[in-house]
Amino acid sequence: MFKWANLFGRNEVERDILSPNGRIKCHFQLKSGQLFYSVYKNDKIIIKPSNLGFLICGEEPLQKHFKLIRELKKKHAETIETMWGEDRFIENNYTESAFYLSENKDDKRIMTLRFRIFDNAVSFRYEIPPQPKFSQITIKDELTEFNIEPNSLVWKIPAYQPDRYEYSYERALVHELKNSVHTPLTIKTTNGYYISIHEAALYNYGSATIKLNEQNHLKTDITPLSDGTKAHIRLPFNTPWRLIMIADSATELTTNRVMYALNEAPTADFSWVKTLKFIGIWWAMYVGEWTWAPGERHGATTEHAKEYIDAAVRLGISGLLIEGWNEGWEGDWLENGIHNKFTVTTDDFNLEEVARYADSKGIELVGHHETVGFIDNYERQLEASYDFYALNHVHYIKSGYAGSMMLINGRREYHHSQLGVNHYQKTVELAAKKKICLDIHEPIKGTGIERTWPNLLAREGARGQEYEGGALSPSHACFLPYTRLLSGGMDYTPGILDLANSVKRMSTTLARQLAYFVTIYSGMTMAADRPYIYEERFPEEFEFIRNVPTNFEKTLPLAGEIGEYYVVARLDRDSKDWYIGGVTDEIGRRIHLALDFLEDGAYEASIYTDSDDAHYRDNQFGINKARKHVGKNDSLDIYMAPGGGFAIRLKRL
Ligand code: NOJ
Repeated sequence: MFKWANLFGRNEVERDILSPNGRIKCHFQLKSGQLFYSVYKNDKIIIKPSNLGFLICGEEPLQKHFKLIRELKKKHAETIETMWGEDRFIENNYTESAFYLSENKDDKRIMTLRFRIFDNAVSFRYEIPPQPKFSQITIKDELTEFNIEPNSLVWKIPAYQPDRYEYSYERALVHELKNSVHTPLTIKTTNGYYISIHEAALYNYGSATIKLNEQNHLKTDITPLSDGTKAHIRLPFNTPWRLIMIADSATELTTNRVMYALNEAPTADFSWVKTLKFIGIWWAMYVGEWTWAPGERHGATTEHAKEYIDAAVRLGISGLLIEGWNEGWEGDWLENGIHNKFTVTTDDFNLEEVARYADSKGIELVGHHETVGFIDNYERQLEASYDFYALNHVHYIKSGYAGSMMLINGRREYHHSQLGVNHYQKTVELAAKKKICLDIHEPIKGTGIERTWPNLLAREGARGQEYEGGALSPSHACFLPYTRLLSGGMDYTPGILDLANSVKRMSTTLARQLAYFVTIYSGMTMAADRPYIYEERFPEEFEFIRNVPTNFEKTLPLAGEIGEYYVVARLDRDSKDWYIGGVTDEIGRRIHLALDFLEDGAYEASIYTDSDDAHYRDNQFGINKARKHVGKNDSLDIYMAPGGGFAIRLKRL
């Protein structure tokens, strides 16, 4: 029920908005016409009074001189049923307060500040209606602050860098964040809470990075456009939700689903969307066996594609990615990508023939579009290139935006700027129209829009396994669940079992490669190694990869600490089988796993653990494999070697 309060305009107002269970409190304040909010959990402060508002080009700041003209409160309780993902059901329970504000001088511009307070998060957004003399505006700066105790611990990756989100996480103190960092920005407050600052439903606006301002407060630093402004918007406009996830422990944070809930339900039928596991004409290029570019060792030939389709059938994997099939990979593809052609195949590759063969064998092809960030070139071909795939029954596309900047309207723009955001959105919407699912590499970060657009099955958006061979430390995959993965699934390309390859040596053990299929969720999951490695060298390990689902009923984090380790159990959505995965950093650990989350009855456990002498540096293949019957009263003692991990399948008998 809505509750109305007609306030006839007051510029001194204080309100407490309590979450449904009363433990999270957001305090809203209008003080001499200026807006502030603060956040508490169990009456302990998490965010001290923080500024709100905007600087607008050519206009007075939209920040001061406000009075409250109306206030609207409601409670919302709903269980969302997802189409796919880590949990079938997501609670969407919050208390909402909308403050309708008007300036008390000059043009009397109006704006609404809408808060939604959850038991595990605080969120709010600005809503600006169209108004005389204020209908098309340019945002110079968004002033939203997150005034957090400066000695709190933070885990960060830098913003505005050539490799976008692909950096190693570093630990720092809040007061050290002089340069912008990306969200989700995970913080351990000095009073012991684990929080993450992020955003939800990012549309038609620059993505928020975070940086310390002169007052030593964290503040949004919206990714700029090349003209130096942050966004050109036509009113009405709602900003993305500013989101602060709040948890008592690091593991609790990992299943915060508020970002997803803040997005709208889909308006079209997406029942055709299906998650997918696939192999690829891919890693062979990374280890130098094949090339993307045509030539003697060209990977994407008709012949290789057919061989891989046959291999997928033998392996029991549903999909095949093919990279390097189109014109544009010759020479320096990063430079030459400006001429990429997305409807023209190389001479040795026949898409129609390969697609017919895949169809006849029941294998889904995953098409590939490496745009190299040349958006003008890509958008000219977008519809035709999607049609080319759709005509050939290709229902999945992996897209890529390598390169440090995008080229849009002839100008160099950040991937994460308003123009970048709008481009990614255009692809998602067009793909939906053509019934195509996307796996976007070098993407815009996740903000939960896959609730509205479920055909956006996967993103990369962090360092993945392609960085192995030197640039990934074992702690990286132990940071991801508490940082990047709070923004949704990731195509990490797990399952490289040829660990000691001299070109791309993995800093992992064998068991850990299986663990990734559980610890890192993705709606499109690649079994990334070459098929012959699975078939000839690791058929037993591959059994786990074949069985592990890409769609889960429930996710239960069992243990972990940021950057140190992570253990999670997930229940398959289509059976009663559970899967458990664990990863550790450079330090070996013993984990006691109580299986009390199982239902009554017996399960057959297939257990893959590091051997006592396994080590990511000098004994990567040390693995123990065991099978036994277990039930909910049992527990397992598991050893994770340095840089190692474990994987368990619990098949319901
Ligand atoms: C980077 C992507 O992450 C990778 O998966 C892809 O193979 C290359 N770009 C080439 O498109």
